[in-house]
Amino acid sequence: MSIVVFEKITEVRTWSERIGASDLSVGFVPTMGALHEGHISLIDRAKGECDRVIVSIFVNPTQFNNSSDLANYPRTYDRDLKLLTDAGCDVLFFPSVAEIYPKPEKRHWDFGLLSNSLEGFFRPGHFDGMLTVVYKLLEIVRPQRAYFGEKDFQQLSLIRAMVQQEQIPVEIVGCPIIRESDGLAMSSRNMRLTPDERQQALAINRVLYYILTAIDQSDPSELSVRGFELLTKSAGLRPEYFTIVNARTFEPLATWPTNDDSVALVAAYVGEIRLIDNMVIKKKALSES
Ligand code: PAF
Repeated sequence: MSIVVFEKITEVRTWSERIGASDLSVGFVPTMGALHEGHISLIDRAKGECDRVIVSIFVNPTQFNNSSDLANYPRTYDRDLKLLTDAGCDVLFFPSVAEIYPKPEKRHWDFGLLSNSLEGFFRPGHFDGMLTVVYKLLEIVRPQRAYFGEKDFQQLSLIRAMVQQEQIPVEIVGCPIIRESDGLAMSSRNMRLTPDERQQALAINRVLYYILTAIDQSDPSELSVRGFELLTKSAGLRPEYFTIVNARTFEPLATWPTNDDSVALVAAYVGEIRLIDNMVIKKKALSES
């Protein structure tokens, strides 16, 4: 079956209502395009759990706090369309900026540390724009389930918090990070790395794994400092943060919690490209250490 492309909100609404009226479920994968295997893994999961799958490609201007990042964000429509067709996706929603934002709009959302720390601190306004568009897209598509990658760990936590606060009837499904064979977390930004930077970027994943091997000898605050130093001094990256926080509350940790998972989160520049990655440290791993 070939994929159907909708550019208009009304077309998506009519389609989604028709699917719902036949008692079939809709799975939704919002993206900004430049698709890679990480996105395809979300689509595969959605296909396994839902009767119909819709993907959106919308490079959302309101979540870019840097205009050159928006201008340089990769746009690979023809390749994306082929990947979506091969993945068996039913519908692509590909709206224009005017379709989503007939007038300028950016709601403000405050979820304490979840929205204000780390990405929220270093990319002011990013989460307001991201949550505004996810709220709008969920309201347009009205899926039973929506799929997001755990690579954007803070984004996923915020989307869960927003959906709960706004009482949107959708199940948010978080899916594991997909890595290249050498460990680099898949990201649309990776295609902008030079071959040398691509090699240098491997340090991010290496340091995260190193942290995992050191949890029984050191407390999280020591490891946060060590991770930052390793990225800076040994790998020559420019980290904005390397920190271990409570995976539910995002509180920075002095000692390992016994009731919650922890997560090591990193954002670092490799050349001009800003990459993020993370590793969840299960409370089970800690109790066994
Ligand atoms: O993760 C992304 O690609 C974007 O932040 C999202 C969720 C599609 C919203 O624009």
